[in-house]
Amino acid sequence: MERDDAWHLTGDLMVEHGKGDPFAAAIRATRMPMIVTDPRRDDNPIVFVNDAFLRLTGYERGEIMGRNCRFLQGPDTDPNAIQQLREAVGARRDISVDILNYRKDGTSFWNALYMSPVITKGGDLHYFFASQLDVTDRVDAQMRTQNEKEHFEREVAKRTRELSDALAAKTMLVHEVDHRVKNNLQMVASLLTMQTRSISDPTAREAMKSMLTRVEALGTVHKRLYQSHDVERFDVAEFARELATDLVRGSGRSEISLHLDLEPVEVPVEKAPPVALMMNELITNALKHAFPSNRPGRLSIRVQPDGRYFGIRIIDDGIGMPQEVVGTRSFGKRLIESLARQLNASIAWQPGDPGTSIDIRLPRESPGAKDST
Ligand SMILES: Nc1ncnc2c1ncn2[C@@H]1O[C@H](COP(=O)(O)OP(=O)(O)OP(=O)(O)O)[C@@H](O)[C@H]1O
Ligand SMILES: [Mg+2]
Repeated sequence: MERDDAWHLTGDLMVEHGKGDPFAAAIRATRMPMIVTDPRRDDNPIVFVNDAFLRLTGYERGEIMGRNCRFLQGPDTDPNAIQQLREAVGARRDISVDILNYRKDGTSFWNALYMSPVITKGGDLHYFFASQLDVTDRVDAQMRTQNEKEHFEREVAKRTRELSDALAAKTMLVHEVDHRVKNNLQMVASLLTMQTRSISDPTAREAMKSMLTRVEALGTVHKRLYQSHDVERFDVAEFARELATDLVRGSGRSEISLHLDLEPVEVPVEKAPPVALMMNELITNALKHAFPSNRPGRLSIRVQPDGRYFGIRIIDDGIGMPQEVVGTRSFGKRLIESLARQLNASIAWQPGDPGTSIDIRLPRESPGAKDST
């Protein structure tokens, strides 16, 4: 009668064993390379090897029977994979690992090794069973893909570096130009100041002073531009803060309080000079005309995004715009209108209660530019 643990007879696989044992016959005949080792013997030697394994490794059966499997390892075998195997043997658990093995002729192949302990019902470890699969093609393809990926990543990183270097060089150059323009505008402002001193006609002096503030406003634009990281965008809100603070301080009118309500609005740099000049006209007007005879008051400036547009609102609680000037076309007013046209902006003067309120609505992008909202 057949024993319950008849499969144990596979221990006799070396001899004409297992005859009549279909499992042993299958293992001998399968195309899957397989071996069995005996951990109860010294150095866990191979006790069974099938023909597929011999074909894979190029050894004769007699050359490897009784040897530990480590002869399959070679100079490029990953020590980490060997360590994993050792640990699995020690812990009597199964393991699946890709390991670089060597044939008898010294050539190497990637071995998808699966090794599993054979433990009896009673918990005794009798064998280790191992199946091998030559996965060299798969691993080579993986390595090639990995190498190509790394190659492309290096190329992309290199190109990105080149582009950032080029951008940094361009930014430096633009900053340098803005710096020079600002210095030249400062020089023009100094000339205007000197010339103004020699003019006795009060109207001409006033006109010169107005020109001076316009030149200074443009100087502030270029100062902000060379201090900015982005050479293509200009933050209207931050500019408004600097300009209004400078103008109020420069007016010496400490009884006028300034209120700022500013949300970041970035516009293309080419819009910066007209926007700056327009704000300068309106703020100087309020400081010059809204609060005569040292009348105290409040000047508030608001910058707010509004979808694809943005708004600038300048409100004073001064004496209000005299009726007679509404229809007149003084230089300042004409300048504001021409800047508004240039910017495609709508501008509305409204009487405040008291004072004057001016609302400007401007498109954020230049015509033809990509919509960035
Ligand atoms: N916020 C304001 N409050 C009261 N009056 C104002 C205000 N803004 C403008 N005005 C009136 O409108 C007039 C026209 O202003 P405009 O800016 O066109 O000329 P200006 O400021 O007198 O001279 P400039 O040509 O130097 O600007 C001013 O003279 C002033 O009487
Ligand atoms: Mg004016």
